[in-house]
Amino acid sequence: MKRRPLIAGNWKMNKTPRETEEFIERLLPLTGAFSGCDILLIPSHTSLDRAGRLLASSRVSLGAQDMHFEGSGAYTGATSAGMLTACGCQFVLVGHSERRHLFLDSDETVNWKLHASLADGLRPILCVGETLDQRRAGRMESILANQLDCGLKDVDEAALTHVVIAYEPVWAIGTGETATPKQAQEAVAFLRTWIETRFSKRVSEAMRILYGGSVKPENARSLQAQPDIDGALIGGAALDPDSFAQIITEAMSSQGDSDSC
Ligand code: PGA
Repeated sequence: MKRRPLIAGNWKMNKTPRETEEFIERLLPLTGAFSGCDILLIPSHTSLDRAGRLLASSRVSLGAQDMHFEGSGAYTGATSAGMLTACGCQFVLVGHSERRHLFLDSDETVNWKLHASLADGLRPILCVGETLDQRRAGRMESILANQLDCGLKDVDEAALTHVVIAYEPVWAIGTGETATPKQAQEAVAFLRTWIETRFSKRVSEAMRILYGGSVKPENARSLQAQPDIDGALIGGAALDPDSFAQIITEAMSSQGDSDSC
């Protein structure tokens, strides 16, 4: 089955609303050439409203980096799914490794966020990935399986069609060290097989699974050429519109390649 690639830029704690506007003004004229994939920008919360207005009539989607699982209430500093959709968000990251490791998001709260996002009509991008120690100890598959098991707890097959998964090995995030196309393909294929076993072949074949971790123009093509990789979640290299556009160009040029491990 042919899945439509999704190329997403996660800006993390970067860019003011003004800088967001400048980025979007430079990116939008370039996007006409990218009809073969979906493009997603994930700015910080303070830029969402402005980005939502600027992207409203474009083919670039908007996502948020995190959300709270409650709809409203006394949760100082938190943002609800409803607030995100009101800014124009269609997607939200849940369980990004920086949230898990720096802000102590647990498997349980990741699952609650996933359910709350779906309930409000957002499409969650569930991030999973192993640390270097876990990989070296031969525990990659059990870690990924556990993150899916917990993250997708009580999600039914109909809801799962709105979920995107991002495989982001922790050791490759922000380090400049990318998983090889072969390593990324193996992990993503493992995730797809897990979905098939737990749910169905139909939903596993339709599921978009992204790779993230030091994606840049130089490696985007060989990663995207892997049969199970359906796009990229990009941090550092998505902060510059030309670099982001170049990654999209490279990734899309791989469509039709058989293998470039
Ligand atoms: P990176 O970040 O591309 O800077 O490694 C990826 C991510 O954290 O999503």
